[in-house]
Amino acid sequence: MINLNNPELGAYNSDHMLVCDYREGRWLEPEIVPFGPFSLLPTTLAFHYGQTIFEGMKAFRTEDGRIHIFRPEKHYQRMVRSATRMCMPVVSREVFIGGLRRLVGLDRDWVPGQAGSALYIRPFQIATDTKLKVKVADSYKFAVVCSPAGDYFSQPVRVRVEREYVRAVQGGTGFTKCGGNYGGALYPTERAKEEGYDQVLWTDGKNHDYIEESGMMNVFFLIDGVLVTPPLTDTILDGVTRDSLLTLAARAGIPAEERAVSVDELREGLERGRVREAFGAGTAAVVSPIREIGIDGKDYLLPVVGSGVGVGSVGMELKKMLDDIRYGRAADPFGWNFYI
Ligand SMILES: Cc1ncc(COP(=O)(O)O)c(C=O)c1O
Repeated sequence: MINLNNPELGAYNSDHMLVCDYREGRWLEPEIVPFGPFSLLPTTLAFHYGQTIFEGMKAFRTEDGRIHIFRPEKHYQRMVRSATRMCMPVVSREVFIGGLRRLVGLDRDWVPGQAGSALYIRPFQIATDTKLKVKVADSYKFAVVCSPAGDYFSQPVRVRVEREYVRAVQGGTGFTKCGGNYGGALYPTERAKEEGYDQVLWTDGKNHDYIEESGMMNVFFLIDGVLVTPPLTDTILDGVTRDSLLTLAARAGIPAEERAVSVDELREGLERGRVREAFGAGTAAVVSPIREIGIDGKDYLLPVVGSGVGVGSVGMELKKMLDDIRYGRAADPFGWNFYI
């Protein structure tokens, strides 16, 4: 079991990676090889026209020393949706989940044991044709690499409601994890950072009237004591953390709704103290408390900022429930932990 003293995500990679190539209409045998560079020609299509997709999940070491991957089936289903939208062939469930099992099993010593840490798993797929024509590629490379991630204690963040730029539009690729979604988000996010915010809260691509999600996270608000998160559409990523928190809230009897949240409702709710809490939910930080929201040049402080030590934060309560399942401190009634 490694102890890298809380490494930054991506700073280190485990010893091996899984690689599986697609050529002439079929997937070849997946291979597990030492982590290392790919040899790709400059004309490789993924460098040019954006046929690239990825996933992100984590493997955990429970307190009794067992290792599991958290909800790989749900990540596989999202990878299938991403691949389909990007006209890419889909690896079989056996290559994806079976491959993860083999890879994490082999590199099990890389799964950290410290509380709050995990092994981040990054499956991805790129188009590897080498003729510079804009077209659906005929050849692809699917690969999985792993990177230990420390206890990502997230400081409460400041977010700004984005009313100028968009991340996704109806009919676009917002519901997928294609590379372009992330490249296009960098510029607006940098503008927000220059203004002292950590992240943007995206709004709908039509009128900028409704909240969608944040950079790498779905978003939740506690409005009048009800946990509210925007509904899934083709402009929002179907987050595995979002789904897990909604399931845990239902089990704990915390009232929750998936419904549209307008910027006006959010502003009024913040002004009148009806919005008590807000947080982002995603694989990296699990729950990222929001301390301040900027709307049209005015900043609003959230009354309840989950700090991990404070009490009364629904976000932190849900995070604890999720972590208890993932670190083996509580039963896993939903079968989320895929033991290897
Ligand atoms: C745009 C976006 N939204 C939401 C999420 C949260 O999804 P998950 O909980 O599956 O990590 C992510 C991270 O994958 C993301 O990139």
